Amino acid sequence: MSDDTLFAEVLDGANRANPYPIYERLRRRPVSRQRDGAYVVSTHAAIRSLLFDPRLSSEDLPPSRRPRTGNPFKDWIINPLKNRVATAHRPLIFRDPPDHDTLRGFVMKEFTIARVNNLHGRVEALVDTLIERCRGRDEVCLVEDLSYPLPVAVICELLGVPEADEPQFHAWATQLATALEPDARRDEEARRATVTTFDAIAAYMRRLIRDKRRHPADDMLSGLARRGDRGEPAMGDVDLISTAVLLLVAGHETTVNLITNGMLTLLRHPQELARLKADPERAPRLIEELLRYEPPVHFRTRKALGAIEIGGTTIPPGAPVVLLFASGNRDPERFSDPDRFDPSRDDIQHFGFGGGLHYCVGAPLARIEAEIALVTLCRRLVEPRLMADPPSYRAGASLRGPSNLGIHIAGIV
Ligand code: HEM
Repeated sequence: MSDDTLFAEVLDGANRANPYPIYERLRRRPVSRQRDGAYVVSTHAAIRSLLFDPRLSSEDLPPSRRPRTGNPFKDWIINPLKNRVATAHRPLIFRDPPDHDTLRGFVMKEFTIARVNNLHGRVEALVDTLIERCRGRDEVCLVEDLSYPLPVAVICELLGVPEADEPQFHAWATQLATALEPDARRDEEARRATVTTFDAIAAYMRRLIRDKRRHPADDMLSGLARRGDRGEPAMGDVDLISTAVLLLVAGHETTVNLITNGMLTLLRHPQELARLKADPERAPRLIEELLRYEPPVHFRTRKALGAIEIGGTTIPPGAPVVLLFASGNRDPERFSDPDRFDPSRDDIQHFGFGGGLHYCVGAPLARIEAEIALVTLCRRLVEPRLMADPPSYRAGASLRGPSNLGIHIAGIV
């Protein structure tokens, strides 16, 4: 394995269960150029510095391209126009200031602490119901039984998506999440599938937003859709749709992974599981350590706008850059004994939710969901044991997490 192909090793599914030794090799240089021209940033200090550097752009998503239909009117007029609009109105995670900041401001105004705290009771009730459904079985399939249905239900409730429509989102959200994976971005087929999915979910959202304008409720989508009525600068429909889709996707697979990685880590560290069970107050620290030790988002990509000299390397203008958050989280220069899962460590300044301008807007909600899920699982599952270690993983290298986690149980209390 040569140093300029290490990131290809990270992307290789064979290394999904344990990419950390590759990260260790990558950290020998803070920034390493890969054979395909990408620059991988792997140390805590270099990631931190670049997260706050305006010379790095988040507008690195390839332009939207709809598949040919054979209908000349569509292929030459309608679809090129649609492509141009979609590219200009990407979701805010793929945008730079000033547009990014304006859109993020709109979202933050709706994503209030009160709205998140109000979901607390609902999350508790959902977790209990989902666990109750496993009664009488001697195994729990954690992703299917709890980690997946919980965040979808919560995000739908927050946005104001009717419960009956939830199942549609599974395929949509899973497909759209691949837009973060470098392999899928290079693959023409996958890019086309993303555009087709985006069109389907956008058509759904357009209808829903129209409905919210007519019959507003106390949810985020109603709030965003009715800004103009309150005398605030209105959000254009295309931005409103792309923001709604982003919230749905961003709040989904990531939280699934945090809960599943969390339970996997606790079952691998039974002492910590027992401690959490005895003292649920430990949960907030434990979640922070999880976000360091097994983060749901391993890396995010950027594009260099100018030449950037860092850690003895010059990143040239236009070069793709990978911020390898999960490697920074295990940097021994920053954390003592970084490969040890230790919720008692004093200082846990992780990149689990990124940092800088694009810091996760859903962090408070994700923390509440993971905390309630893990504390309740530890309390209610009797003698939980992993059925396979390592479990099988989903394809994603960026959004990394088990595709399922089988847990033997002796009962439910
Ligand atoms: C455990 C769960 C979650 C994790 C690990 C996570 C992680 C992240 C990370 C690493 C970023 C930074 C992306 C970048 O730098 O390019 C981010 C951004 C974002 N997250 Fe989350 N997220 C989680 C849950 C959520 C939830 C529940 C929501 C919404 C309901 C959400 C909405 C967003 C949005 C909108 C952004 C883009 C912010 C911007 O570009 O300014 N996330 N998230």
